[in-house]
Amino acid sequence: MYARIAGTGRYLPPKVLTNADLEKMVDTTDEWIRTRTGIQRRHIAGPDETTSSMATEAARNAMEMAGVGPRDIDLVVVGTTTPDVVFPNVATLVQANLGIRDTPAFSLETACSGFVYALGIADKFIRLGDSKCALVIGAECITRLVDWTDRGTCVLFGDGAGAVILKPSEEPGILTTILSADGAYGDLLSYPYGVSKGFDQLRAGAPAAIQMKGNEVFKVAVNTLSRLVDQTLAKAGIDREAIDWLVPHQANLRIIQAAAKKLELPMKQVVVTVTDHGNTSAASIPLALDTAVRDGRIKRGQTLLLETFGGGFTWGSALVRY
Ligand code: UT7
Repeated sequence: MYARIAGTGRYLPPKVLTNADLEKMVDTTDEWIRTRTGIQRRHIAGPDETTSSMATEAARNAMEMAGVGPRDIDLVVVGTTTPDVVFPNVATLVQANLGIRDTPAFSLETACSGFVYALGIADKFIRLGDSKCALVIGAECITRLVDWTDRGTCVLFGDGAGAVILKPSEEPGILTTILSADGAYGDLLSYPYGVSKGFDQLRAGAPAAIQMKGNEVFKVAVNTLSRLVDQTLAKAGIDREAIDWLVPHQANLRIIQAAAKKLELPMKQVVVTVTDHGNTSAASIPLALDTAVRDGRIKRGQTLLLETFGGGFTWGSALVRY
């Protein structure tokens, strides 16, 4: 039994922030941002938008494509590192918005790897026969954590959500997943304020924002993803020539190009959306997937490699027969 993607969906907030807008906010240039990251614009959640509201819209799209209703869904998993509130968790908020009842519904926080972790877990529910129709979401309102005076980070991030519906199938679907992490690197990329740590500083109005040693993150990301590609192909027992599409986490075009080079895959077989929405953390892979499914690039029967890397560090991959 396999878990097969029955539908995909996405949501991006209407507000767009271009590189030209950022030139007016910090000491940066469109040229620097394009050449160092590939990003041209990003979407920013409005004051009334939340991670769960964006997740709900992406879920509606995916449910429509899959032809399923709220009563069909028996599992909701959301990867997010920017929940609306501490609790109820985002998956239960989505449940309530969509009228899904009496199902497991939980969120998991593995930063940019949130969607791949959520997919890996939902895959196991389906293979074990514990789910017949899973809603899997990556959603993020990460710009709320950004310091808009820090040019080293504020140019990178954007908000959005993407979703898939998984159903059991005897035809191949998700072929294999790898989920991994190494907590020794936590300090290189963090937002070190929360509930049991940094809460008093937050209440006192301390300036809190994402902290990143970009250059060091970059190097570990490229090396880890290179290893991950080999591990994933070996675990699935397939050659790299079998990959039709690389659907990578969208953090930096240069990191994506390095992964494509490792796979000896021409860039025309790589789904690149970082240009249009920046780094949307857990939302980036399902956003890219839905984009390429809906514009007809990704077709039924093709083999996709999803790979991600993020804060923690966490990383993961999924090899998928679409
Ligand atoms: O999604 C989770 C994982 N996150 C990532 O994968 C992010 C990984 N890191 C990166 O993508 C890149 O490291 C960045 C895009 C963040 C930075 O690119 P870089 O090529 O590593 O640049 P750098 O940090 O080494 O900085 C180079 C120069 C510095 O100036 P000096 O010291 O050479 O004078 C920075 O101050 O670029 C400067 N700089 C900027 N200049 C104009 C940094 N940010 C900006 C900016 N505009 N926005």
